[in-house]
Order: sequence, then C-alpha cells, then structure tokens
Amino acid sequence: MAKNVIIVGTQWGDEGKGKIVDLLTEHVAGVVRFQGGHNAGHTLIIDGEKTVLHLIPSGVLRNGVECVIGNGVVVHLPSLVKEIEGLIANGVNVEGRLKISSASPLILSSHIAIDLARESTNVKIGTTGRGIGPAYEDKVARRGLRMSDLLDKNKFYAKMHTAISFHNFILENYHKKPAINVDEEVDHWLKLSERITPLIIDTPAYLNEMNAQGKNLLFEGAQGTLLDIDHGTYPFVTSSNTTAGAAATGAGLGPTDFGAVLGIVKAYTTRVGSGPFPTELNDSIGKHLAEVGVEFGSTTGRARRCGWFDTIVVGRAILTSGITCLCVTKLDVLDGLETIKICTGYKLDGKVLQHPPLSADDYVNVQPVYEELPGWDEPTVGITDYHSLPEAARNYLERLQEILDVPLDLVSTGPDREQTIIRNHPFN
Ligand code: GDP
Ligand code: IMO
Ligand code: MG
Repeated sequence: MAKNVIIVGTQWGDEGKGKIVDLLTEHVAGVVRFQGGHNAGHTLIIDGEKTVLHLIPSGVLRNGVECVIGNGVVVHLPSLVKEIEGLIANGVNVEGRLKISSASPLILSSHIAIDLARESTNVKIGTTGRGIGPAYEDKVARRGLRMSDLLDKNKFYAKMHTAISFHNFILENYHKKPAINVDEEVDHWLKLSERITPLIIDTPAYLNEMNAQGKNLLFEGAQGTLLDIDHGTYPFVTSSNTTAGAAATGAGLGPTDFGAVLGIVKAYTTRVGSGPFPTELNDSIGKHLAEVGVEFGSTTGRARRCGWFDTIVVGRAILTSGITCLCVTKLDVLDGLETIKICTGYKLDGKVLQHPPLSADDYVNVQPVYEELPGWDEPTVGITDYHSLPEAARNYLERLQEILDVPLDLVSTGPDREQTIIRNHPFN
C-alpha cells in the first residue's frame, strides 16, 4: 500500500529537513514542496559533496524521483531558473522531473524591494529578504500573480504592470525608496518564462493520479513550527503555515491522503532572525554549539542563535502537526559536553506553563525550567547503530522520548546521507 509522509520542522527551521528528505527519497516516487519559498535552505551532503536547495524539492539528487512545487509555494522565477541552472551545471537532470503548480503565487522584484525596505526600519522581523511576506500578502489580498499568468504573455504584461505600479506607489511614497522599472522587469520575466512554462501543470490532478497508482510521496516542509504564521512566535514568524495541515492545502490533496507525519528536531535549538528564544545561550556553550554545529544560515549566511532543547516548543509542534514519529538530528554536536539541559516548562508570573503563553508577546517573559542530564565524551559522529551510542547519549534520547511521548525513529549523527540511525523506517 502506498504511503504519503509529511516532513515538518519542529523548532525554528534548519533542523536538517533536507538531509532526511534526501535520505528517505529511496522509498518514494515523488517529493513535494507545499509552502514557503526560496527563504528555505535545505542542505544535502552525499559522499561529502554539498548541495543547498531553496525551491527545488530535496528529491532532485535521487534519479527518477519526481519533484513537485505545489500551489502553496511562492516562486521567484529568477531564483528558480538560477537553481535549475546550478543543478544542471553539476550534472543533475532537473527539467525532465520538475513540475510546478499553475496556482503557485509569484514573488516579484517589487515584493523583494518592499521586504527589504521594511527590514531597513527599526521594526525588524529579521526576514531572509526574499519577498516572502509581501508575496503572500498579495495572494491573500487576491491581487497577486500566479504561475498560470505566465501562459498568456499579453495578459501577463498587463497584470505585472498593475501589480508593480501598486508596489511602486508604496515603495516611493511610504518607504521613500526607488521604484522598480516595470518594462525591464516584464522583459526579463518573459525571457525566463520560456524555460519554465513547459513545467507548469495541474499539480493536484497529477499528485492524485500518483496516489491512485499506489506511489509513495514525501511532502517536504520548509521553516519550522514556531515560524508558522498562526502557531509561531508571532509576529516573528514567516508568512505561511509551516505545520502539517499545509501539506493538504499547499499540494491539493485531502487530509485523509496522508499516512504519517515525521517531525525533524535538532538535539538542541537554533533560530535565525529576531524574536523570542527562551532557551537561548549567550555564553560559551552557545558559542560551542554554533561552532561545532556550523550554525550559519544556508540561505543568508547569518549566524544562528543556539540554545538548549525546548520540549515546550517541540510539544507544540507535535500537537499542531499530529506528529507520529521524530528524527533527532545533530546529536554529534553535543559530544564532549559535561552536562546537557532540557527545558521542561516555562515560568511566567510565578506559574509553570506546559504550553506556550496565550499571548505570543509573553514569549519574551518566560523563564525556562531545566532538567540536567550527564553528557558524554565518546564521539557519536557517523554512528549508524543505536546500541553503539554512548549510554549517556541513549539516556538523553530516551528522556526526550519519554517527555515528548512520540517515538524517536531516526537519529542523525552527521551531515552526510549515510550518517543516520534508522530504528523504525517511516515508510514501513
Ligand atoms: P533544513 O533547512 O532543515 O534542511 O536544515 P539546513 O540544511 O538549513 O541546516 C542543517 C545543517 O546541519 C546543514 O548544514 C546540514 O548539513 C547539517 N546537518 C544535518 N544533520 C546533521 C547531523 O546529524 N550532524 C551534523 N553535524 N550536521 C548535520
Ligand atoms: P528552512 O526551510 C530558518 C525565518 C527568518 C525570519 C522569519 C521570517 O531552511 O528551515 P521570511 O523571509 O520567511 O519572511 O523570514 O523566518 N526563516 C527561517 N529560519 N530556516 C528557514 O527555512 C527559514 N525561513 C525563514 O530568518 O526570522
Ligand atoms: Mg535551512
């Protein structure tokens, strides 16, 4: 029987989703992105060779796997073409396997200019500057352009003109920034569109057909639960739903089409950009995690903030995505620490909370309640057998599993595809 699995990030993104999607593609016919855009940076390392993907699903390095960009993904055409060309230059056959939804909203240069203009003020979200927020705003406001608009050049010209004129009004009059040249933009996009229009299809029909043929599909989430527009640390979030429900709406399948939800969770916590982070470590341990874990953003190169594992954050991910199994990544980064802390609750106004505060604004006021466990000296890097892990590492994982009450089916012990412990395969 076919099985469709959704992969989601359970923290603030960069949990190692790309690595795990790539690993599991051995068992699937297709990988589908369903939300976000080129704000994502998913790193794949195969036999030491690194590839970072932003828009193209992380199934692209496995020959024969179909890669689908769903209607929930916002697409910046120049970035998509650049990513395709980069992969082709490395010998990857992309175009024959890539399909894009006709309903995917377009990110225009003017969306990027507005994103950057907002970020240049004092009120910063710390966005990736990729125009994600403004593009989703236009989608919801029902004035955005979609992939299907590229199919009719004359209509496309008129629609792009209207959209950019509106954006230019905001850029010039509100932000006091230069306007975007509409004609140059349209010319550039029409040239690029020749590469892309053959890839535009009715993705819901296509995916339903694959389903009917009994083919396994993997749904690749971007960002993480606490960046979800509804369930995250609002307003310091991205502009899409990053939780598992978005796989249905962002791909065009029904909720009953999915068989499992695999949450990816780092063995500690990181965050890029502004916003609350209760277990953040501004000390030598935080620095150690950043250095050993090479915690720099895959998209913007910004340093990631680091902290202890937060079970309130991951508990919220389990609850909002119906997570059925977890994969703990970067366990090896904790090697050599004397003790390791787990946040098991938040103190707020003298009370201990087991859930995030009612108002996301209060997130900055919570104090983490910690439990401390012994660390381990022996290296875990590259271990593929659970029982070969040091006892203290197993105790750490088992304590997490006990608190979270979800099986830790996979453990990642290094960035390479092969450096993984599989205790229970999600496609079994
Ligand atoms: P994603 O956005 O969730 O796909 O994650 P990113 O690719 O942005 O960030 C994860 C980083 O950790 C990448 O540099 C990966 O190569 C790396 N990584 C993934 N799993 C492991 C692991 O188990 N150990 C170590 N040391 N690095 C890992
Ligand atoms: P992956 O898929 C980590 C963060 C930004 C910022 C906030 C809003 O690689 O895990 P946006 O540009 O989306 O409007 O920025 O969200 N952010 C991410 N952080 N990983 C990501 O993606 C992210 N995508 C967006 O840093 O705080
Ligand atoms: Mg990333």
